[in-house]
Amino acid sequence: MVKSLIPLRIAGVGYSLPETVITNDDLTKLYDTSDEWIYTRTGIKERRVVSGEQNAIDLGFEASKNALAKAKIDPSEIDLIIAASSAPPDLYPAIACHIQARLGIKTQIPAFDITAACTGLIYGLSIAKAYIASGMYKNILIVATDNNSRLVNWEDRSTSILFGDGAGAMVVTASDDGVDDVIAIDIKSDGHIGDLIELSFDGKNCPLVEQYEPKPTGIRMNGKGVYAFVAKILPHYVENLITSAGMKAEEIDYLIPHQANIRIIQAVQERLGYSDDKVVTNIKYYGNTSAASIPLALAESVEKGKVKLGSTAVLCGFGAGMTWGGAIVRLREGIC
Ligand code: COA
Repeated sequence: MVKSLIPLRIAGVGYSLPETVITNDDLTKLYDTSDEWIYTRTGIKERRVVSGEQNAIDLGFEASKNALAKAKIDPSEIDLIIAASSAPPDLYPAIACHIQARLGIKTQIPAFDITAACTGLIYGLSIAKAYIASGMYKNILIVATDNNSRLVNWEDRSTSILFGDGAGAMVVTASDDGVDDVIAIDIKSDGHIGDLIELSFDGKNCPLVEQYEPKPTGIRMNGKGVYAFVAKILPHYVENLITSAGMKAEEIDYLIPHQANIRIIQAVQERLGYSDDKVVTNIKYYGNTSAASIPLALAESVEKGKVKLGSTAVLCGFGAGMTWGGAIVRLREGIC
């Protein structure tokens, strides 16, 4: 954990969703499934998907504009952009570079993407915290965005039902009142179990050498394996994060978890002993939006009044890698 030198303030959060809604009933046109099967196992009723030319960069740009407006920070004042995506539409230019251009940021600030799948926002926040603490950068835009609907195999009914598209963004800045909004943060990975969720991007060897067998396209997931791993580690991990910050679960106002499966969310909720009003869930309407999931849940729940500001929240996520992470944050008035 980074010991803060300069504290960090969360200045603004924003989100963006594509308009097109695909319900569980719609999916019955693609394969043999039912609303009842999907809803009881996952908590998902519908998801949003991009259509036509729209992609994760467009969603990320909208979410970034919203977060910057809430933060009352002009794009020209941003000195670093970190974009988190499970799979950017272009491997290069990075999403972060696209967003720098779309925001009209003329200065030659750094902008880069990170790949930590659904833990992307927590990884991004951890990086931003270190940069702010060191005094290297002052105003940082973290944008997490995914267009999963382009990456799933729409013939695979056990995986494609889960995912949706969306974006969330957070603007963080050096705090000028000595209060750090990141009370605790931790990120983890275990590459030994990386084959639980995979998305390959195979090219072709030079035509003059032996070729290799490319892996299948689309997201491949061992759903049972992911479920078993996460249900085993996550509740205990989140509880540990809280106790190692010297806090008790009841001192934290909200749980804002990655929206992957309602049963995993409930397992964390149960471990912390939280009532439903302390737990943010929007999986029913958006499914798993990967990197966007946590900031989308945060920004939307504040906008809709489910999460009151002047509060604290524990964020937690997990995803391909496998990666996982958590953060305890202060949510000040005015961030959304
Ligand atoms: N509709 C109807 N039946 C389906 C189906 C669907 N959409 N998808 C799979 N099935 C069938 C399977 O074919 C299988 O049938 P069989 O027993 O006749 O072979 C049966 O349902 C059980 O399939 P299985 O894949 O073992 O289901 P499951 O109980 O593990 O549930 C998930 C699947 C994906 C809902 C569950 O494993 C899960 O949520 N895992 C966590 C995934 C996750 O969180 N990923 C995100 C990481 S960021």
